[in-house]
Amino acid sequence: MPQADIGLVGLGVMGENLALNIADNGYRIAVNNRTPDKIEAFIANAGPLADRVSGDADIATFVSMLKAPRSVIIMVKAGDPVDAVIAQLKPHLEKGDVIIDAGNANYHDTVRRFAELDGTGIGFLGIGVSGGEEGARHGPSIMVGGSEDEWHNAEEVLKAISAKFNGEPCCAYLGTGGAGHFVKTIHNGIEYADMQMIAEVYGVMRDGLDMSPAQCAEVFREWNKGPLDSYLIEITSHVLDAVDSKSGRPLVEIIVDQAGQKGTGRWSAIEALNLGVSATTIEGAVAARSISAMKPERIAGEKLYGAAPKGKARVDLKTLENALLAGKIAAYAQGFAVMAKASEENGWDLPLDEIAKIWRAGCIIRSRFLDTISQAFAKGDAANLLTQPDFVTMMKESNGSLREVVAACAMAELPTPCLSSALAYFDAYRQAQGTTNITQGQRDFFGAHGFKRTDEDGDFHHDWPSLIGKAG
Ligand code: 6PG
Repeated sequence: MPQADIGLVGLGVMGENLALNIADNGYRIAVNNRTPDKIEAFIANAGPLADRVSGDADIATFVSMLKAPRSVIIMVKAGDPVDAVIAQLKPHLEKGDVIIDAGNANYHDTVRRFAELDGTGIGFLGIGVSGGEEGARHGPSIMVGGSEDEWHNAEEVLKAISAKFNGEPCCAYLGTGGAGHFVKTIHNGIEYADMQMIAEVYGVMRDGLDMSPAQCAEVFREWNKGPLDSYLIEITSHVLDAVDSKSGRPLVEIIVDQAGQKGTGRWSAIEALNLGVSATTIEGAVAARSISAMKPERIAGEKLYGAAPKGKARVDLKTLENALLAGKIAAYAQGFAVMAKASEENGWDLPLDEIAKIWRAGCIIRSRFLDTISQAFAKGDAANLLTQPDFVTMMKESNGSLREVVAACAMAELPTPCLSSALAYFDAYRQAQGTTNITQGQRDFFGAHGFKRTDEDGDFHHDWPSLIGKAG
């Protein structure tokens, strides 16, 4: 067989599907995996694509199967396994070859890997790939970080395998170093917030409005025809429709209410905190998954304080739909604001409109809404969505509903950690005179940290009476 155009290490679900996608697009691909039987099975199951796939478990043989300059995609578990594969590959690669890490890497690891490969002549790209199994097979959204030269070498194949929105590839070069993996991390943070807010409105329907899963499914199906139209809303209706074959009951009632998390949502919140950008909806979503995992404590808590009453939310479904839209605007505003700040700090010059564009198809948060976001960012350079004219209009129309829902849920004893933090963020964002003048006074009182005055430039300290507030 002629030499392969590209190599891929790691035949997990994502790796396997990405490899088939590459072959499907006309490229010859060689694969490598720790266990040889996976390679054999992969080739045996490649069907009509079999003449374009080859592979070997021996790394040297695998590399020799690739056309020079070589491009090798790594699709293994994030963390140490990536370093182990790079160490294995390095002795067999040459100047001009490029390693492409397509896993969900922590971008700090990506930055370190760039530094470690620096001077070897071996190039590196850190790419975020979103869309799960289906996306990997038929077109994911691809967020690329690294040097522009290396990007141009890989551009053709990455664009070919990516999802398309109106014919445009959902794959773009976003910046140097860890830019691609950083953007993927924030994508996942937004994904967490989006999913959590959907779970909260489901909670309002189930507990506050006493609706059955089938009724909830119907509402989500309807909402998917309007401004909330998105992959996550669509799959939510399917999740609510599913019936458990064992019990005959709605599957959603059988699934345990404890959410897993692999870490990207948490990284997203950590990065926001480190950058000093408010991303409370993402934090709220991560925290909601953490508290969901504390099932025994929640059961004990319900015994201590009593269960929330059923059917007590005073909201209608139209209000709920608008509230979700307002919450979603706040969450995306926060996610994009984190990226804008990170771009500034790292000198990435992240194209926010382009990021929204490549998220319109292929990825988990794909939606019609992202098209509106890309248009808004293309029009103006304001980094916060809440100041973009189209979103100002949408937020003016919908924030009242968010307020109504959060208030109704507070009275009905239903938790809405993400929706309520979205509302608090919005109210704080448009409050010209906040309340941290008192915080500054306190800091100056106990630690002489100083404060600014409203009527004069400079740093000031007040001579607070020394005995006030002293213990004893
Ligand atoms: C994607 C997803 C994916 C992520 C899963 C699970 O964009 O395709 O974000 O990368 O791994 O959604 O993430 P959690 O286990 O943290 O929910």
